[in-house]
Amino acid sequence: MTTHLLDIRHVNKHFGGNLAVSDVSFSVEKKQIFGLIGPNGAGKTTLFNCITGYYPVTAGDIVFDNKKINKLRPDQVCKLGMARTWQKVKPLGSLTTLENIMTGAFSKTNSPRIARQIALKHLETMGLADYTDKSAAALSIGLKKKLELARVLATDPKLLLLDEICGGLNHTETAAILEIIRMVRNNGITIVFIEHDMKAVTSICDRIVVLNSGEKLAEGTPEEITSNPAVIAAYLGGGTNANH
Ligand SMILES: Nc1ncnc2c1ncn2[C@@H]1O[C@H](COP(=O)(O)OP(=O)(O)OP(=O)(O)O)[C@@H](O)[C@H]1O
Ligand SMILES: [Mg+2]
Repeated sequence: MTTHLLDIRHVNKHFGGNLAVSDVSFSVEKKQIFGLIGPNGAGKTTLFNCITGYYPVTAGDIVFDNKKINKLRPDQVCKLGMARTWQKVKPLGSLTTLENIMTGAFSKTNSPRIARQIALKHLETMGLADYTDKSAAALSIGLKKKLELARVLATDPKLLLLDEICGGLNHTETAAILEIIRMVRNNGITIVFIEHDMKAVTSICDRIVVLNSGEKLAEGTPEEITSNPAVIAAYLGGGTNANH
């Protein structure tokens, strides 16, 4: 019995001659908070797009919960228990906050009544109750990120892929999101976390993979990664808040 929830095996993704992801392998254990870091253009979001079925891989395998998923569509991957947030948050502005969260719940139920119940629960957990019937377009960036988390949690995932969920947030807002991520993990959900803020990454991640120009440069604990000379040279050298 493996304790891996996600196995990335020799994954390649090419766009024409551009090797956006090149022979990347790593495994995420159940209940881990797993960091994916690296410079702009390293291939982090592309790898998320491959894992979640938005891009077909050029080569390699993606195994989720002991099932090979690299031929599945995003909705099929979601049904298996994987959900992701987007680097550029894009709530449906014509819908209310509650309705946006309901779109997540509808991956698990066809009943509007049940979807509403599920959405209300997550809305309250995220502290969004004051915005229930407000247009999602009007929310601040910090609240939009919480809305994103509520929407993906409403899909009842085993694995959450967070693409720069703290991007554009101030220290207080980042701390609030990190607290939510810890709570989510304590509820048994595994998390893969793309983030440039190294303080956030090292404070929350159990294990980290560094991508650079599409390749895996290093893997290890936060201590191993922050003291790795190759990682410092390629990414961390400019300071703790690498390239942002
Ligand atoms: N749809 C696409 N078509 C062609 N090239 C793409 C596409 N998506 C990504 N790329 C290229 O793949 C490479 C990796 O981009 P990606 O967005 O995955 O990087 P990233 O690590 O997420 O960077 P950032 O930290 O800036 O978000 C880049 O060279 C990018 O231009
Ligand atoms: Mg990205």
